Amino acid sequence: MSFASDSEIAHAVEILRAGGLVAFPTETVYGLGADASNPAALHRLYEAKGRPTSHPVIVHVRGASDLPRWAREVPPVALRLTGRFWPGPLTLVLKRAAGVLDQVTGGEDTVGLRVPAHPIAQRLLHAFGGGIAAPSANRFGRLSPTTAQHVCDELGDTVDLILDGGACEVGIESTIIDLSRGTPVLLRSGRISTADIEAATGVKVAQRTSASPRAPGTLAAHYAPRTPLILAAASDFERVIREQAASGRIAVLAFHPQPPNSHASLWQIGATDAHVYAHDLYTLLRVLDRSGCVRIVVEAPPERAEWNAVRDRLMRAATGSGGANGT
Ligand code: TXA
Ligand code: MG
Repeated sequence: MSFASDSEIAHAVEILRAGGLVAFPTETVYGLGADASNPAALHRLYEAKGRPTSHPVIVHVRGASDLPRWAREVPPVALRLTGRFWPGPLTLVLKRAAGVLDQVTGGEDTVGLRVPAHPIAQRLLHAFGGGIAAPSANRFGRLSPTTAQHVCDELGDTVDLILDGGACEVGIESTIIDLSRGTPVLLRSGRISTADIEAATGVKVAQRTSASPRAPGTLAAHYAPRTPLILAAASDFERVIREQAASGRIAVLAFHPQPPNSHASLWQIGATDAHVYAHDLYTLLRVLDRSGCVRIVVEAPPERAEWNAVRDRLMRAATGSGGANGT
């Protein structure tokens, strides 16, 4: 892993204070950061991502002691979660405090808050002092970046500075829990599972329903490569590849090695450990996406709970790939 120097962090803080955009590593994915209290900076952030302004962004803060600045109610269950999981890959949705900008909340009465664990993110937040609004540093609807090079490929010159912290440890976005309505509701799955949250709080986590608050990242079409992606069960795998190969070259992400006589042109193998698979997922999908193949065929992960977050991202990638827009 590489490290930002103190002068690079100081430079990043100057850019944020001047309303600029700084991409930085977190333990989940790279974020595209802007001063969460500066409307003009937030406007630039939305432009850079090509994201509709009605979609809320997560505010990254130094620690749980920053919560009252952003949230008007911090229920006991929130403090149990922050005590157990912050800094870490968990975002809490709470009732917004007065003065939190509509550009951050997407006009909702809630705000998403997270304390990232990556040392560069921590140093940046402490040097800056305020909240940093940071969506994943990709164009709207595309794969989240997990290296500085991915950010550069995605956003190029629209970012004022990219802090390089090497490859992100978790590799998929944070778990999001809505605590603004009493019962905790899972809005996005991630490394921290529902079972982890229930164990830490003693409270049952509900799954999202149509009555849950809007979370654009939970639209079906999201996290997508450009090449159409098909999820196929292991039992069906070679048949799907053979059928798809009628339209051109096929790129594959599977758990097993390429069999002889396979019709695929490019074959990547995913790890059998769910955390390792998640760590590699977006990098592998980028490789497959750039291969010039007409389809990406991915072997469906096991049905077990430890694969929930990966399965969720793959299902969204399957729905959203090939140009359909998500967030
Ligand atoms: O791991 C992560 O969470 C990364 C890193 C950079 O921290 N960030 C990230 O941000 O994934 P973004 O904007 O790509 O996804 C944030 C998700 C979106 O689906 C958004 O709708 C949801 O969080 N969100 C943010 N604020 C919300 C709120 N007040 N209510 C409901 N959903 C919210
Ligand atoms: Mg995103």
